[in-house]
This record gives sequence, structure tokens and C-alpha cells, in this order.
Amino acid sequence: MKDKTKALWDKQDQHKGDRWRLFQAVSAAEPARRVLYAGSYVDVAPSFVYDDVTYADTDKRAAAFFADADGVRQIIGDHGGNVNGRIEFLHGDYRSLDLEAESFDLLISLYAGFISEACGHLLRIGGLLLVNSSHGDAALAALDPRFKLVAVVTSANGRYSVTDQNLDGYMVTKKPQTITRDSLSKSCRGIAYTKSPFAYLFERVR
Ligand SMILES: C[S@@+](CC[C@H](N)C(=O)[O-])C[C@H]1O[C@@H](n2cnc3c(N)ncnc32)[C@H](O)[C@@H]1O
Repeated sequence: MKDKTKALWDKQDQHKGDRWRLFQAVSAAEPARRVLYAGSYVDVAPSFVYDDVTYADTDKRAAAFFADADGVRQIIGDHGGNVNGRIEFLHGDYRSLDLEAESFDLLISLYAGFISEACGHLLRIGGLLLVNSSHGDAALAALDPRFKLVAVVTSANGRYSVTDQNLDGYMVTKKPQTITRDSLSKSCRGIAYTKSPFAYLFERVR
């Protein structure tokens, strides 16, 4: 493995195994075959649990990281992942990915902008969007008629759990406010909700 690959991964994995635990919990609750991680940077943790992951990012460091294919597969193997799985990195803007519509089972949106809007069409009907509130993408997904909230991912003491219970208690704003696509796009910030799970799972319903 190249030194640079190791350095990028060590920095990404500062909270040792955190993303590994996240994707273990999500995959145990919601198995998926084809996964798309838009705005992934060097977070290769989905490949620790899923066999077929497409990553996309504009960042040059992410491109250099994934170009070290042997190094990336070593990291995946070190975490119990399938070293013979499919790993594809697309170096480009996730708003213009040349991928087949409705061909993914899981779309990941963590801290990287309005991925639900830009890549939602790539998710099959019945597929899941894993999204956190960063940049307002979870709030945007909640406004989008293609998506229905089906579960939340909570975290406590570094452990993640997925639950579909009491979903009405989530995405309740702390103060009365009207949320629109425009307001989210202007602020590019997450909404303050009364409960703050780590992330939400939305099903693509249309
Ligand atoms: C804060 S990092 C989050 C990385 C990763 N999702 C994580 O949670 O560790 C945001 C990443 O999104 C990427 N990004 C933002 N907008 C993008 C776009 N339009 N197309 C592709 N990548 C984008 C950035 O290059 C950056 O690597």
C-alpha cells in the first residue's frame, strides 16, 4: 500500500472503526447488492460489508486513493471485506454521473450536499437512501415525493442501531419554520430537529 493511501485512510478512520460499525448496522438491517456512495472522499468503509460499491467524488486525493487499487483492497481485506468485490471510483461531479437509472439498491449521502436530488434517479424503486442531516439533504429528501422515511440510524457510545419505530417523532423542527427546497439551497445547512439521529433511511417509492 502506498504511504499516501495509508495516510489518507488513517485520517479518515480517526475514530477507529466508526464507519465500519455504521455500515455493519445498516447492512444487517437492510441488505443491499449495488451501492452508490456519492461524495465519498476516501471513505471506503461500505466495501467492508457490501460487495459492489461505486464511489464518486471530485477530490483529487480521493482519485489518488482509489487509484491505489491494491492498497484499497488491502484496507478492505483488513476489515473483513470481500477483496474480490467490485469497487469503482468515478472521479467527477455526482450531479452528472453517467450511470444507469434505477440500478442501485442503496445510495449514500453523508456530509456531501444534495445527493438525494442529484442521484435519486439512480436508485431503484424500493431502494434505500442513507442520508444525514448535514447540508440539509435529509430535509430535502423529506420534501421529495420520491422518498418515504422508513427508518432512522441512531448512535450511542459509538454503536449504531437501525429502527423503524416511532418515526413520527423524527424530523420535527425545534422551532416552527417552513422548509422549502429554496430555503435549504440558500442555507446549505441541516435543520435543527428535536431529535438528532445519526442518519435517516428513506425508501424510493416512485
Ligand atoms: C465533507 S466530505 C464527506 C466525505 C464522506 N462522505 C464522509 O462522510 O466521510 C464531502 C465530499 O463531497 C465531495 N463533493 C461535494 N460536492 C460534490 C459533487 N458535486 N460531486 C462530487 N463530489 C462532491 C467533496 O469533494 C468531498 O470529498
